[in-house]
Amino acid sequence: MIFKNISDLRHHLIEQLPNALGLVPTMGALHDGHLSIIKDAIADCDVVVVSIFVNPTQFNDPKDLSNYPRTLKEDVEKINQLHGNILIYCPSVKEVYPHGVVSETFDFGSLSKYMEGQYRGGHFDGVGTVLKRLFQLVKPNKAYFGKKDYQQFAIVKKLVDIENFSIEVIGCETYRESNGLAKSSRNKLLSKDQMQEAEILYSCLKWAKENFHKQAPTEMKKKVKSIFTSKENFKLEYFEIADENDLVPVVKLIKGKRYRAFIAAYCSGVRLIDNIALN
Ligand code: PAF
Repeated sequence: MIFKNISDLRHHLIEQLPNALGLVPTMGALHDGHLSIIKDAIADCDVVVVSIFVNPTQFNDPKDLSNYPRTLKEDVEKINQLHGNILIYCPSVKEVYPHGVVSETFDFGSLSKYMEGQYRGGHFDGVGTVLKRLFQLVKPNKAYFGKKDYQQFAIVKKLVDIENFSIEVIGCETYRESNGLAKSSRNKLLSKDQMQEAEILYSCLKWAKENFHKQAPTEMKKKVKSIFTSKENFKLEYFEIADENDLVPVVKLIKGKRYRAFIAAYCSGVRLIDNIALN
Protein backbone atom coordinates (compact mmCIF):
# COMPACT_ATOMS: atom_id res chain seq x y z
CA MET A 1 0.00 0.00 0.00
CA ILE A 2 1.26 3.47 -0.86
CA PHE A 3 0.66 6.54 1.28
CA LYS A 4 1.39 10.03 0.05
CA ASN A 5 0.65 11.79 3.31
CA ILE A 6 1.20 11.11 6.97
CA SER A 7 -2.42 11.46 8.08
CA ASP A 8 -3.49 8.54 5.84
CA LEU A 9 -0.53 6.47 6.98
CA ARG A 10 -1.24 7.21 10.67
CA HIS A 11 -4.91 6.35 10.19
CA HIS A 12 -3.95 3.00 8.71
CA LEU A 13 -1.42 2.33 11.49
CA ILE A 14 -3.98 3.07 14.21
CA GLU A 15 -6.18 0.34 12.74
CA GLN A 16 -3.26 -2.10 12.65
CA LEU A 17 -1.80 -1.34 16.10
CA PRO A 18 1.59 -2.93 15.42
CA ASN A 19 3.66 -4.23 18.34
CA ALA A 20 6.83 -3.29 16.53
CA LEU A 21 6.85 -0.72 13.75
CA GLY A 22 9.99 -0.71 11.61
CA LEU A 23 11.09 2.14 9.35
CA VAL A 24 13.42 1.71 6.39
CA PRO A 25 14.20 5.23 5.13
CA THR A 26 15.27 5.31 1.47
CA MET A 27 15.66 7.74 -1.39
CA GLY A 28 14.23 5.17 -3.81
CA ALA A 29 16.07 3.65 -6.79
CA LEU A 30 15.78 0.46 -4.79
CA HIS A 31 18.26 -2.35 -5.39
CA ASP A 32 18.90 -5.74 -3.78
CA GLY A 33 20.75 -4.01 -0.93
CA HIS A 34 17.59 -2.11 0.05
CA LEU A 35 15.46 -5.23 -0.39
CA SER A 36 17.74 -7.13 1.96
CA ILE A 37 17.40 -4.32 4.58
CA ILE A 38 13.59 -4.43 4.17
CA LYS A 39 13.69 -8.22 4.65
CA ASP A 40 15.71 -7.75 7.89
CA ALA A 41 13.04 -5.30 9.06
CA ILE A 42 10.19 -7.68 8.17
CA ALA A 43 11.87 -10.45 10.17
CA ASP A 44 11.86 -8.16 13.25
CA CYS A 45 8.67 -6.12 13.00
CA ASP A 46 5.01 -6.84 12.31
CA VAL A 47 4.62 -3.68 10.18
CA VAL A 48 7.38 -2.05 8.12
CA VAL A 49 7.19 1.42 6.60
CA VAL A 50 9.54 2.01 3.65
CA SER A 51 9.86 5.73 3.05
CA ILE A 52 10.87 6.94 -0.40
CA PHE A 53 11.98 10.55 -0.43
CA VAL A 54 14.87 12.13 -2.33
CA ASN A 55 16.04 14.54 0.32
CA PRO A 56 17.23 17.83 -1.24
CA THR A 57 19.11 19.07 1.86
CA GLN A 58 21.64 16.25 1.89
CA PHE A 59 23.00 16.94 -1.61
CA ASN A 60 25.81 19.45 -1.61
CA ASP A 61 26.07 19.27 -5.41
CA PRO A 62 22.87 20.31 -7.26
CA LYS A 63 23.96 18.18 -10.26
CA ASP A 64 24.12 15.12 -8.00
CA LEU A 65 20.56 15.85 -6.81
CA SER A 66 19.17 16.26 -10.34
CA ASN A 67 21.05 13.13 -11.58
CA TYR A 68 19.82 11.01 -8.68
CA PRO A 69 17.80 8.13 -10.20
CA ARG A 70 14.04 8.36 -9.58
CA THR A 71 12.26 5.08 -10.29
CA LEU A 72 9.10 5.04 -8.15
CA LYS A 73 7.10 2.63 -10.34
CA GLU A 74 9.88 0.01 -10.33
CA ASP A 75 10.50 0.58 -6.62
CA VAL A 76 6.87 -0.16 -5.80
CA GLU A 77 6.94 -3.30 -7.98
CA LYS A 78 10.06 -4.55 -6.18
CA ILE A 79 8.55 -3.95 -2.74
CA ASN A 80 5.30 -5.64 -3.76
CA GLN A 81 7.22 -8.82 -4.53
CA LEU A 82 8.32 -9.13 -0.91
CA HIS A 83 6.17 -10.93 1.63
CA GLY A 84 5.18 -9.05 4.76
CA ASN A 85 3.13 -6.14 5.96
CA ILE A 86 4.96 -3.34 4.13
CA LEU A 87 3.62 0.18 3.74
CA ILE A 88 5.24 2.61 1.31
CA TYR A 89 5.37 6.24 2.37
CA CYS A 90 6.24 8.81 -0.33
CA PRO A 91 5.79 12.22 1.28
CA SER A 92 5.85 15.51 -0.58
CA VAL A 93 8.63 18.06 -0.03
CA LYS A 94 5.99 20.25 1.64
CA GLU A 95 5.13 17.52 4.18
CA VAL A 96 8.77 16.91 5.10
CA TYR A 97 9.77 20.59 4.97
CA PRO A 98 6.65 22.58 5.93
CA HIS A 99 8.74 25.65 6.81
CA GLY A 100 10.96 25.65 3.72
CA VAL A 101 13.72 23.43 2.46
CA VAL A 102 16.46 24.17 4.98
CA SER A 103 18.74 22.05 7.13
CA GLU A 104 18.92 22.14 10.86
CA THR A 105 22.47 22.06 12.25
CA PHE A 106 23.49 19.30 14.62
CA ASP A 107 26.51 18.68 16.79
CA PHE A 108 27.55 15.16 15.85
CA GLY A 109 31.06 15.76 17.24
CA SER A 110 33.87 13.86 15.57
CA LEU A 111 31.39 11.59 13.78
CA SER A 112 30.69 14.21 11.10
CA LYS A 113 34.15 15.73 10.92
CA TYR A 114 36.08 13.38 8.66
CA MET A 115 35.56 11.40 5.46
CA GLU A 116 32.03 12.09 4.17
CA GLY A 117 31.72 14.97 6.63
CA GLN A 118 34.91 16.52 5.29
CA TYR A 119 34.13 16.10 1.58
CA ARG A 120 30.37 16.67 1.57
CA GLY A 121 29.81 19.88 3.52
CA GLY A 122 26.40 20.00 5.20
CA HIS A 123 25.52 16.46 4.09
CA PHE A 124 25.01 15.03 7.57
CA ASP A 125 22.99 18.04 8.72
CA GLY A 126 20.68 17.30 5.76
CA VAL A 127 20.52 13.61 6.68
CA GLY A 128 19.88 14.47 10.35
CA THR A 129 17.16 16.96 9.39
CA VAL A 130 15.22 14.56 7.18
CA LEU A 131 15.54 11.61 9.57
CA LYS A 132 14.49 13.66 12.59
CA ARG A 133 11.38 14.67 10.65
CA LEU A 134 10.67 11.14 9.38
CA PHE A 135 11.10 9.74 12.90
CA GLN A 136 8.65 12.37 14.24
CA LEU A 137 6.14 11.65 11.48
CA VAL A 138 6.27 7.83 11.36
CA LYS A 139 7.18 7.18 15.03
CA PRO A 140 8.88 3.81 14.47
CA ASN A 141 10.19 1.52 17.21
CA LYS A 142 13.11 0.44 15.05
CA ALA A 143 14.90 2.02 12.10
CA TYR A 144 17.15 0.18 9.64
CA PHE A 145 20.24 1.43 7.80
CA GLY A 146 22.84 -0.18 5.58
CA LYS A 147 26.39 -0.37 6.91
CA LYS A 148 27.68 0.60 3.45
CA ASP A 149 27.05 4.12 4.76
CA TYR A 150 28.72 3.34 8.07
CA GLN A 151 29.30 6.98 8.98
CA GLN A 152 25.62 7.71 8.39
CA PHE A 153 24.68 4.70 10.56
CA ALA A 154 26.86 6.05 13.41
CA ILE A 155 25.36 9.52 12.99
CA VAL A 156 21.77 8.23 13.10
CA LYS A 157 22.54 6.51 16.43
CA LYS A 158 23.91 9.85 17.70
CA LEU A 159 20.83 11.71 16.37
CA VAL A 160 18.53 9.34 18.27
CA ASP A 161 20.62 10.06 21.37
CA ILE A 162 20.61 13.85 20.93
CA GLU A 163 16.88 14.02 20.22
CA ASN A 164 15.94 11.43 22.84
CA PHE A 165 13.96 9.28 20.41
CA SER A 166 13.07 5.87 21.71
CA ILE A 167 14.07 4.14 18.50
CA GLU A 168 16.43 1.21 18.11
CA VAL A 169 18.83 1.89 15.22
CA ILE A 170 19.82 -1.29 13.41
CA GLY A 171 22.76 -1.64 11.01
CA CYS A 172 22.38 -4.13 8.15
CA GLU A 173 25.26 -5.83 6.37
CA THR A 174 26.42 -4.45 3.01
CA TYR A 175 24.99 -6.27 0.03
CA ARG A 176 27.49 -6.70 -2.82
CA GLU A 177 27.60 -7.35 -6.56
CA SER A 178 29.31 -10.63 -7.50
CA ASN A 179 32.61 -8.74 -8.00
CA GLY A 180 32.39 -7.27 -4.48
CA LEU A 181 31.21 -3.77 -5.48
CA ALA A 182 28.80 -2.54 -2.78
CA LYS A 183 25.22 -2.24 -4.08
CA SER A 184 24.26 1.39 -4.45
CA SER A 185 21.61 3.34 -6.32
CA ARG A 186 24.50 5.13 -8.04
CA ASN A 187 25.68 1.85 -9.63
CA LYS A 188 22.80 2.38 -12.08
CA LEU A 189 24.82 5.30 -13.48
CA LEU A 190 27.77 3.00 -14.37
CA SER A 191 28.19 1.04 -17.60
CA LYS A 192 28.85 -2.72 -17.38
CA ASP A 193 32.59 -2.16 -17.89
CA GLN A 194 32.73 0.64 -15.33
CA MET A 195 30.92 -1.59 -12.84
CA GLN A 196 33.52 -4.28 -13.45
CA GLU A 197 36.37 -1.80 -12.93
CA ALA A 198 34.74 -0.39 -9.80
CA GLU A 199 35.55 -3.62 -7.94
CA ILE A 200 38.85 -1.85 -7.15
CA LEU A 201 37.23 -0.12 -4.14
CA TYR A 202 36.38 -3.39 -2.42
CA SER A 203 39.70 -4.96 -3.46
CA CYS A 204 41.53 -2.15 -1.66
CA LEU A 205 39.39 -2.63 1.45
CA LYS A 206 39.98 -6.39 1.44
CA TRP A 207 43.71 -5.81 0.98
CA ALA A 208 43.65 -3.42 3.97
CA LYS A 209 41.91 -6.04 6.09
CA GLU A 210 44.40 -8.74 5.10
CA ASN A 211 47.38 -6.48 5.83
CA PHE A 212 45.98 -4.64 8.83
CA HIS A 213 48.55 -5.92 11.31
CA LYS A 214 51.42 -5.97 8.82
CA GLN A 215 51.56 -2.30 7.81
CA ALA A 216 51.10 1.05 9.54
CA PRO A 217 47.91 2.98 8.60
CA THR A 218 49.96 5.74 6.90
CA GLU A 219 51.75 3.15 4.73
CA MET A 220 48.41 1.62 3.77
CA LYS A 221 47.04 5.01 2.79
CA LYS A 222 50.08 5.65 0.57
CA LYS A 223 49.72 2.27 -1.11
CA VAL A 224 46.01 2.74 -1.89
CA LYS A 225 46.71 6.25 -3.23
CA SER A 226 49.37 4.84 -5.54
CA ILE A 227 46.99 2.14 -6.81
CA PHE A 228 44.49 4.83 -7.79
CA THR A 229 47.02 7.12 -9.51
CA SER A 230 47.51 4.44 -12.14
CA LYS A 231 43.74 4.11 -12.75
CA GLU A 232 42.69 6.48 -15.51
CA ASN A 233 38.93 6.43 -14.94
CA PHE A 234 39.15 6.87 -11.18
CA LYS A 235 39.72 9.69 -8.77
CA LEU A 236 40.32 8.68 -5.15
CA GLU A 237 38.75 11.13 -2.73
CA TYR A 238 39.89 9.45 0.46
CA PHE A 239 41.08 6.19 1.92
CA GLU A 240 41.02 6.38 5.69
CA ILE A 241 41.48 4.06 8.64
CA ALA A 242 39.42 5.25 11.58
CA ASP A 243 38.33 4.23 15.06
CA GLU A 244 34.94 2.52 14.68
CA ASN A 245 33.47 4.39 17.67
CA ASP A 246 34.41 8.03 17.13
CA LEU A 247 35.35 7.80 13.43
CA VAL A 248 38.56 9.74 14.01
CA PRO A 249 41.28 8.74 11.50
CA VAL A 250 44.07 6.85 13.21
CA VAL A 251 47.81 7.29 12.95
CA LYS A 252 48.90 4.77 15.59
CA LEU A 253 46.80 1.72 16.45
CA ILE A 254 45.76 1.18 20.07
CA LYS A 255 45.25 -2.36 21.39
CA GLY A 256 41.62 -3.25 22.11
CA LYS A 257 40.12 -0.62 19.81
CA ARG A 258 38.10 -1.51 16.75
CA TYR A 259 38.99 -0.02 13.39
CA ARG A 260 37.40 0.28 9.96
CA ALA A 261 38.78 1.31 6.58
CA PHE A 262 36.71 3.79 4.56
CA ILE A 263 37.01 4.66 0.90
CA ALA A 264 35.38 7.15 -1.49
CA ALA A 265 36.27 7.45 -5.17
CA TYR A 266 34.82 8.75 -8.39
CA CYS A 267 34.50 6.13 -11.10
CA SER A 268 34.01 7.94 -14.42
CA GLY A 269 32.42 10.80 -12.50
CA VAL A 270 30.14 8.61 -10.30
CA ARG A 271 30.90 8.89 -6.60
CA LEU A 272 31.12 5.54 -4.80
CA ILE A 273 31.81 4.77 -1.14
CA ASP A 274 32.46 1.63 0.87
CA ASN A 275 34.01 0.46 4.14
CA ILE A 276 35.13 -2.67 5.95
CA ALA A 277 35.72 -3.77 9.55
CA LEU A 278 39.45 -4.39 9.97
CA ASN A 279 39.59 -6.26 13.28
O1 PAF B 1 20.91 6.47 2.89
C1 PAF B 1 20.02 7.11 2.32
O2 PAF B 1 19.45 6.66 1.32
C2 PAF B 1 19.63 8.47 2.86
O3 PAF B 1 20.72 9.15 3.36
C3 PAF B 1 18.49 8.42 3.89
C4 PAF B 1 18.92 7.66 5.12
C5 PAF B 1 17.27 7.76 3.28
C6 PAF B 1 18.10 9.84 4.32
O4 PAF B 1 17.62 10.58 3.24
